[in-house]
Amino acid sequence: MSTDLITPPAHASADWTIPQDWAAYTPGEHAMWDRLFARQAAMLPSRVVPAFIDGLDVLRMTRPGIPDFDELNARLMKATGWQVVAVPGLVPEEVFFDHLANRRFVAGRFIRTPDQLDYLQEPDIFHDVFGHVPLLVHPVFADYMQAYGEGGLRAAKMGMIDALARLYWYTVEFGLIRDDGALKLYGAGIVSSYGESHFALDDPSPHRIGFDLERIMHTDYRIDDYQQNYFVIDSFEDLLHQTRDADFGPLYDRLRAAPLIPVAEILPTDKVLHAGTQAYARAKVPA
Ligand code: PHE
Ligand code: FE
Repeated sequence: MSTDLITPPAHASADWTIPQDWAAYTPGEHAMWDRLFARQAAMLPSRVVPAFIDGLDVLRMTRPGIPDFDELNARLMKATGWQVVAVPGLVPEEVFFDHLANRRFVAGRFIRTPDQLDYLQEPDIFHDVFGHVPLLVHPVFADYMQAYGEGGLRAAKMGMIDALARLYWYTVEFGLIRDDGALKLYGAGIVSSYGESHFALDDPSPHRIGFDLERIMHTDYRIDDYQQNYFVIDSFEDLLHQTRDADFGPLYDRLRAAPLIPVAEILPTDKVLHAGTQAYARAKVPA
C-alpha cells in the first residue's frame, strides 16, 4: 500500500497527531468559533437529531470559545470512551481508519478565517469538532464510527476504500434521519454548514431517498457544492445493524464490476421520500 510509505510531518507523532496547543488560540480565533456556533445554535434545535443537542450539552460545548480537547475528552471518554486528537491536516486513509477503530476522532486544530465563513476546502476545527463530536456521545453512533474504522482497515486490504468512503459521505457527512415521523439532520457536513442546514431539509431541489447500503456505496458524490441527493436512515440502530453485522466482501465484489450511479439519478428500486426538482444544481450549470 502506498500510504505505508508516507511519513508524518516532522512536528507530528508517528500516528500523525499533534498537540492541540489550546493556549495558543488568539481571541480572534475564539471569536470565530463563537460566531459560527451562534449561527448554528440558533437554527439547529428544530432541525438536527435530538442526540446532537444532547451531545453538545453533555460535552458542555455550549460554552464560549474553541473547546479545549483535554476538557472535552474527559467528558467524551466518560460517555462513550471516545477521544478527539488533533492532526496537522488530512491524514492517509489508513491512519484515519486506525484512529477510528481505536475510538479516536482526528480533528484539525486550525479555524477558518472570516473570509472563509461559508466555504473552505479543508475541514477546520469547527467542522471537525462542532460537526462530528456531539454524536460521539450517542452510544450507537459511537459504535458505528468504530465499526466504520475497522471496516476501513479491511476495505484498504481489499482495495475498496473508495466504495466505503461513499458510505461515510452519505451517512457521517451528509446523512438525514427519520425522527418521530419528521426528517432531521445528523451529517456533520450539513450540521456545520449554515447554508446546507437549510438546503438539505427545506429546499425542493435535492432528492431525499431511503437508506440503501449497496446503492449508496455505488453512488457518486460531489465535493464542490450542496449535495443533489441525501439518504435517510430510520435510526442509528438500523444503520449500525446494516453495516457492522454484514460482510461487505460479496458486496465489494458486485461493486467492482459495475459503473457508478450519477449523483442526481433516481433508480426504480429507490424508496423516494422526495423527488427533487434539481433546480438548484441545474441553475448552476452553464447553459
Ligand atoms: N461489516 C463491514 C465489513 O464487512 C465493516 C463495516 C462496519 C463497514 C461498519 C462500515 C461500517 O467490511
Ligand atoms: Fe467531516
